[in-house]
Amino acid sequence: MVEENANKVPGVRVGIDLRGKVALVTGSSSGLGMEIAKYLAKAGATVAIHYHSEKQQADQVAANIVGNGGKAVVFGGDVSNKSEVESIFNSIDEELGSIDILVNNAGIDGKRELCGDDNTEDWEKVIAINLMGPYYCAREAVKRMKKSGHGVIINITSVHEYLPWSGYTAYCSAKAGLSMFTKTLAQEVSDFGIRVVAVAPGAIKTPINKAVWGNPDTYKDLLEKIAMPRMGEPIDIAEAVTFLASDMASYITGTTLVVDGGMLLYPAFKHGG
Ligand code: BGC
Repeated sequence: MVEENANKVPGVRVGIDLRGKVALVTGSSSGLGMEIAKYLAKAGATVAIHYHSEKQQADQVAANIVGNGGKAVVFGGDVSNKSEVESIFNSIDEELGSIDILVNNAGIDGKRELCGDDNTEDWEKVIAINLMGPYYCAREAVKRMKKSGHGVIINITSVHEYLPWSGYTAYCSAKAGLSMFTKTLAQEVSDFGIRVVAVAPGAIKTPINKAVWGNPDTYKDLLEKIAMPRMGEPIDIAEAVTFLASDMASYITGTTLVVDGGMLLYPAFKHGG
């Protein structure tokens, strides 16, 4: 007789353990990056908090992690500047040792501008931060991870790696580009024990889209674009990233995990076609 619940083992708990790992989270002085950094630290990782201009906020994030028994050190620099990225990684080498996890989170939406009426410098800035930045960081990480024989690179893309968004051609192009960078790099480094994955957040409540969720009309319009009846919270993304960073995801590479509450499910069809 097959015992009911035979495959359930009472008392066995499964958890994510990142103790002994060093993780860099770019743009972690606020928003998604901050939550990701805190969560990785909770799982035991030593976290390199990175900021571009908000040093005080980055220091606060690090202090919060340390206050909760975790480990965190702050590093500043511009991810769209190759030599600044190199010095961030050199400083991490000196202060924390070899890097195990890179989360390419730093990014901007950019201004809403229609192609042709836009300013080319704004376009270039979005590409520089959202696509060149992850490339420069991944490049430094890969050099080190090839030496250690392991590592995970997690690129934060967006539902806009799939979804067109009028007024944001630069943003959508950068995120779609980052998605293909993820797959191509994953293929390239698969023999070195390195995994490369992407997480595509939908509408998550952070400062980046406060102008939308802070206004009742635009908030209502936004909720109609999500199948589930709520916006995402930063923790929704932090949990997905922590899972992908862990050995629980050791056979996952070159793919995107979409965390969007069903934004990509054509929610307008919920009410018939
Ligand atoms: C953008 C947010 C936006 C969301 C859904 C994200 O990638 O950064 O501003 O709310 O996509 O459109």
